[in-house]
Amino acid sequence: MKQESFFPSHFLWGGAISANQAEGAWNRDGKGPSTADIMQYNKNSTINPNKVTVKQIKSSLEDTNDNKYPKRNGIDFYDNYSKDIKLLSKMHINAFRTSIAWSRLFPTGYEIKPNPKGVEYYRNLFCEMHKYNIEPIVTLSHYEMPIELVIKEGGWKNRLVMKKFIHFAITAIDLFHDLVHYWIPFNEIDSVLRHPFVSAGLTFDQLSKHDEYQAMHNQYVASAAIVRYGHNLSSKLHFGCMVTGLTVYPYSCLPKDNILAQQLRHYTYLSGDVQIKGRYPKIIYRMMTKDLKIDITNKDLEIISSGTCDYLAFSYYMSVTVGTEENLPKTNGNTIKNIKNPYLEQSEWGWQIDPLGLRIICQDLYNRYEVPLFIVENGFGSRDTFENNNEINDFYRINYHRKHLLQLSQAINKDHIDIMGYLVWGLIDIVSSSTAEMDKRYGLFMLI
Ligand code: BG6
Repeated sequence: MKQESFFPSHFLWGGAISANQAEGAWNRDGKGPSTADIMQYNKNSTINPNKVTVKQIKSSLEDTNDNKYPKRNGIDFYDNYSKDIKLLSKMHINAFRTSIAWSRLFPTGYEIKPNPKGVEYYRNLFCEMHKYNIEPIVTLSHYEMPIELVIKEGGWKNRLVMKKFIHFAITAIDLFHDLVHYWIPFNEIDSVLRHPFVSAGLTFDQLSKHDEYQAMHNQYVASAAIVRYGHNLSSKLHFGCMVTGLTVYPYSCLPKDNILAQQLRHYTYLSGDVQIKGRYPKIIYRMMTKDLKIDITNKDLEIISSGTCDYLAFSYYMSVTVGTEENLPKTNGNTIKNIKNPYLEQSEWGWQIDPLGLRIICQDLYNRYEVPLFIVENGFGSRDTFENNNEINDFYRINYHRKHLLQLSQAINKDHIDIMGYLVWGLIDIVSSSTAEMDKRYGLFMLI
């Protein structure tokens, strides 16, 4: 093997899922209903995930036909985690990322003490991982929150929700820090601006740009407060900020295409700057305070500057291309509709496959932040079919991962970038986040 393909010996290899897409048991053992539990399967859905109203939430909660809401049952990881972790361990992984469902520990979000059954479940789950020398990587907010905080408090735009979340997060850290050393307060924290309901529980009833930015700011403050708490508690705890890794290309060298690309990049930097550097980039800060009049107190800024993260985690599935020319073919992406890049192939769901884009974003983020990078999601969503001999030959997925890993090894060995690990999204098939379906699969297959 050539030197360039080596990965460091301490590298974290594994998979990633989220509680809301995997656990199921949505109303058992004391768990309360969450924002994920009202999401219908996309094709038949009467609910647009980006335009959810309180009226729709209430009628979904009354609907007892769980089959319409795939995240309610997930893949029943709640009952099968022990068997699943045992199987996953046969892939020789040393890390596995999942999330703690806020609504399983605090069913409505208002409780002071956590739900004992929830505590028991997560403790057992993390112990099970350790049994196989698998390091738990734990996200505290992954597209799920108690629905009551949406109906009664209006979601993350409300500072009360921020306080309730900090209480949940600190409780979780207190309960599990002996077993969990790697924490990620928020999944893709930048996504509040793209899908405000899924990321921040903002309903469509009175949605405004102001509320989206206020919610995002409240999440930044919560993240920093949690990191600060964890750092004070133990030097063994490592906290990562997590953003959506989007390598952005301008469609042409037209200056107006370039400014679009630059503006989109600024949004990745926004979350990185706040959580790694501990301060807002001036351009966006001025827009937020002067134009949108976002409520940002001096105390908030002090918390943000003192609760900075240790590593920068990101998901990476695809690159996006932006431009001003009209009538160019468009493609869907991970919640971002963009221009089809003529040089790239794409998945059936329109996500543009770009392994070199992974190396580009590693260079970009490391150059700017100089903290270890952690690829906590990378995967290929596809429809897999059984062949006559009952085999699935997912050569497309094998190629996808091989090509991305080759670029990652270049980033490590040629660009000398400090990369902590690589987690395959799914590893085990779960319900799709954006479309709530099972046809789009991410899992890996192995012979056992
Ligand atoms: C990421 C999310 O953005 O994309 C995951 O963090 C999600 O929760 C993943 O599952 C893939 O998206 P989808 O919609 O194909 O499940």
